Order: sequence, then C-alpha cells, then structure tokens
Amino acid sequence: MQEIGQLNSNQKNLFSHLTQAPSDAIFAIMNAYKADTSENKIDLGVGAYRTDEEKPYVFDVVKKIEQEIVNDPSLNKEYLEIEGLPEFNKGCQILLFGKDNPLITSGRIVTAQCLGGTGALRVGFDFVKRHLQGDVYVSNPTWGNHNQILDRVGLNQINYPYYDPITKGFNCKATLDCLSQAKEGSIILLHVCAHNPTGVDPTEDEWLQIADVCKTRNLIPFFDCAYQGFASGCLDKDVFAVRKFAELGFQMIIAYSFSKNMGLYNERVGAIHILTSSQDIATKVLSNLKMVIRTLYSCPPAIGGRIVSRILCNDNYYQQWVQELNVITGRIIKMRSLLKNELDNLNVQGNWDHIIKQTGFFTFTGLTPQQCDQLTQDHHVYLLRSGRMSMAGITSKNVKQLVEAIKIVVQNK
Ligand SMILES: Cc1ncc(COP(=O)(O)O)c(C=O)c1O
Repeated sequence: MQEIGQLNSNQKNLFSHLTQAPSDAIFAIMNAYKADTSENKIDLGVGAYRTDEEKPYVFDVVKKIEQEIVNDPSLNKEYLEIEGLPEFNKGCQILLFGKDNPLITSGRIVTAQCLGGTGALRVGFDFVKRHLQGDVYVSNPTWGNHNQILDRVGLNQINYPYYDPITKGFNCKATLDCLSQAKEGSIILLHVCAHNPTGVDPTEDEWLQIADVCKTRNLIPFFDCAYQGFASGCLDKDVFAVRKFAELGFQMIIAYSFSKNMGLYNERVGAIHILTSSQDIATKVLSNLKMVIRTLYSCPPAIGGRIVSRILCNDNYYQQWVQELNVITGRIIKMRSLLKNELDNLNVQGNWDHIIKQTGFFTFTGLTPQQCDQLTQDHHVYLLRSGRMSMAGITSKNVKQLVEAIKIVVQNK
C-alpha cells in the first residue's frame, strides 16, 4: 500500500532547482530583535512608531472608529469596487492635493485604494510597465523595496546620486546633473518628504529646480508619499512637492501610504493617484488601472479604507487624528535633539549635527556596516547595516544606553 504523501515517481522533483532567496533586511532585523531575550534590547530597525514606553501605538481615533464599524448594521462583507471605496478615494485626494484644489473637481485625478504604500507602488509600476515603459530613475540610496518591486515588474532602474556622504545632506547639483542627462520619457521616483533611508529632503527651492529639469527633459514624476506629516509636522507643508508639480501642470503618479501617519500598518491601506491631462483620459486610465488591480488582488479589503474615510470625512475625527499625529511627530523630533545632546554630552567622536538636520522617521547616522553589526552583537541595538536608525524606537529611557554603545563602536573604528 502507498504511504500517504509518498512522492509520485513519475513526477520530477519540481522545486529542487530553487536556491534560497535572501531574507528581507528589515523583516530579518525585526525577527532578530524579537528573538533577543535581553531586557536592554533596542529596536531601531523597523519604521514603526513606538511610545516612550517602547510600545506600539494604536490611535485612539482609530479604536473609536473600529468600534463604530463593528456596531454598524448597515455594513456588510460584500466585495468593494475594484478601485475601493469612493469616499476613501475622495478623502485621499483632498488630503494630498488640498481641499480647494480645482484639480479635484476637474475629474483629471484617478484614484484607487491599494494595499498599503507597497501595494500602491506595485500597482503603479505595473501600470507604468504596461502603458508607459521608460527607465526608472531611483535615488541612491532608496527604500530597499523600491528596487525589488521594480525588479519584479521588469522595469530598468538607473540610480540618481541623491545623498552626499560628506555633508550628510541632499546633493542637489549631482541630482540635477544626472537628471538632465536622462532620456526623455523616463520616470523619476521621488520621495515626497522624510526620505527613507536618509531623512534628507530637497528644500522648496530645490524642488523647483527638480521640476524644471523634469520639464526640460520631459521626465515623468512618480512620487512615493509614505510619511505625510512626519517631516515638518505639518500635513500641508509636507506635500509641497506634489502640490507644486500639480500646479506646474505635470501629469504624474503618486503612491500613498497610511501605514505610518494613521498607524494602520497591518491593515494595509494606501492609494494610487494618477494625475492625467483631461477628464476623458482619466476615465480610460481608470479602466486600465482597474485591469491591473483585478488581476493582482481583485479589490481591496474594507476595514482600513473605512477607518481612513471616516477620519478624512468627519471634521471631529480629522481634528482628533491631527492632534494625535502631532504628539507622535513631536516625540520623534524631541528624540532627535535628545540623541544629539547625549552624543555631545558624552563627547562621542564625530560631528552629529545631521541628526537634527535630517527629518522624519529615520536618521542616516553615517555608522559603517561593521559598527552597526557591533551595535547589534555586543549591545543589543538593532538597526539597518546602512546605518539607518528609526528615531521612533529611541526613548527618553534608552537613549543613554544607546549613546554609550555608539561611543564604544565609534572608538573601535
Ligand atoms: C519610502 C516608503 N515607501 C513606501 C512604504 C510602504 O509602506 P506600506 O506598504 O507599509 O504602507 C514605506 C514603508 O516603510 C516606505 O518607507
């Protein structure tokens, strides 16, 4: 008698040709942190907010709306439209482009609810691959998943030199020089604010120069907006680049994430916006975007979209959300100065001014991969080997221990 599961001898060994794929750097750090039993471990890996007690945070306004949704007899589990909830899409447009922006009523913006910022990027680049082609210019460095998504979709990537390791700031001249050589019709992936991993953003004047070169070279802007609210602390100011490019008449694509600014990480809520040249074209773009979504995951899940739309469409909830977001961004900003002061107080070798100059969730510390390894192995501090530190993992209690560890690894250089 054949044993259950005994291999069918006629079938060749199907998956034996596979080699082990590399693990995702950020998830690997998250797991290593979880497995560490030390009481003094510090998690500076993942870009997820932690309270000053090192706890994950769920917005009160989100909890309240979740209850409301559970108790709402008018809701059911029927499929949503392929492009998601209409009130979600409308709310997202207003948040990004601004309440009184005439583009919203023009019908030229196509929006679809997506599975987080990652889902929006994937949908957007699938759409680009099918309907635009062109090389994609990607900042060096960028969020690692950008490279992986583009690779999977099969779009050619070219780096533009974004970060200057000497000044630990934005290298505007090198960026402009590179883009001015780009082939017409290329796509340029731009981080709207709080650049990941560097924490370095162009100034408003530098954005205008980037817009200029995009116009001259006929480049297509593809914005990634994952941190609205985290750079300056002001929702409107943080999306200056998107609003300015829209005002200047660009047709463009924007991938948006609510993971960080509403703390909805595992609900997977985001959006893709495509700003087109006319209402008529927008209708055609939407129909094609829906084809991309239908074949990827059919339609988005409802809960996250309902939470976001209730926040964006209700004045009271909106105010509560902004207040809570301010507390979060305020704590991160405070941690930057605390870290910098402690580094100075302990006379840690080097100049650490960039910690307070950079913005958003991350600081690109300038620590070498070896120093980062040493921080993890000897001091239970978890961060990316690129030297990227999530500021949201620093607290008033762990900052001293962190700085003492940095002092040791910097001296051992
Ligand atoms: C620059 C950038 N874009 C997009 C995302 C995607 O976020 P999510 O898919 O979690 O919404 C992230 C998340 O870390 C990010 O840092």
